[in-house]
Amino acid sequence: MEIDSRVTARYELVDEDDRLWRPGLGDLVRLRTWDIFARFLPGHGRVVDVGGGPGTHAAHLAGRGYDVLLVDPVARHVERARSRSRSQPHAPFRVELGEARRLPVADKTADVVLLMGPLYHLVQRDDRVAALREAARVLRPGGEVLVEVIARHAWVLDAAKKGLLGSGEIWDDFDRNLRVGLSQDPAQSAAGGFWAYFHRPEELRAELDLAGYRDIRLVAVEGFAWLLGDLEQRMADPGDLLRAVRLTETEPSMLGTSAHVIGVARKP
Ligand SMILES: C[S@@+](CC[C@H](N)C(=O)[O-])C[C@H]1O[C@@H](n2cnc3c(N)ncnc32)[C@H](O)[C@@H]1O
Repeated sequence: MEIDSRVTARYELVDEDDRLWRPGLGDLVRLRTWDIFARFLPGHGRVVDVGGGPGTHAAHLAGRGYDVLLVDPVARHVERARSRSRSQPHAPFRVELGEARRLPVADKTADVVLLMGPLYHLVQRDDRVAALREAARVLRPGGEVLVEVIARHAWVLDAAKKGLLGSGEIWDDFDRNLRVGLSQDPAQSAAGGFWAYFHRPEELRAELDLAGYRDIRLVAVEGFAWLLGDLEQRMADPGDLLRAVRLTETEPSMLGTSAHVIGVARKP
């Protein structure tokens, strides 16, 4: 399966490894994701982390006793994830080069499939549904998929937060982004830019439904908290903030204010 060269070019230029470890936003995304894992995953079993990147989540889950296989199409990520696994010999995990629509995994052998990245990098709906069906192939009946997407309005919120609204071009950008969900103009996508599809939360539900999943729940990752100006200070002692985000995490009227949303669903 071909992976879009815009996606690989991006990860050759930008170091994905430290994204989840940056003070403030990185801490929020990492801790919220792990909190969602702790409450929505079964207590043990075999996890296939598809698009697992440099392995932050795989290392965490292996440390919690899961049997983890990470699959990613970017050689740099595979090398980094292997080295991360070697650095925790008490809780190693396996790493293979591969792609979401064709996993190097036998049928019905996984308890959980994570798709934390591939669904926003596959900009065609057919490809996203193919990735969800491939995850269903490797899941045992009753197994769970956790799928992360970027919310359609995240760029408008992010640009407002970063003070970018004064630039004339940004409004054309918003127009395309909100209409068709693409992060960049396909005709002029810049080398090393972020090439992705931004979902409306309900679209994720529809794609999971089309791929045959049941018990679909949508959960905000950052929730409203990523918009707070003093996030870095708050994350120094994050207990109350994380508790407040948890209170609002599944509220439909708030889902679209989160930068990322995770769909949790079950294979019948
Ligand atoms: C933003 S990173 C997320 C990494 C990690 N899952 C996390 O949540 O921090 C997106 C990942 O998706 C991977 N990816 C992109 N397209 C993919 C595809 N078609 N199949 C599998 N992985 C893909 C990239 O190589 C990258 O590692």
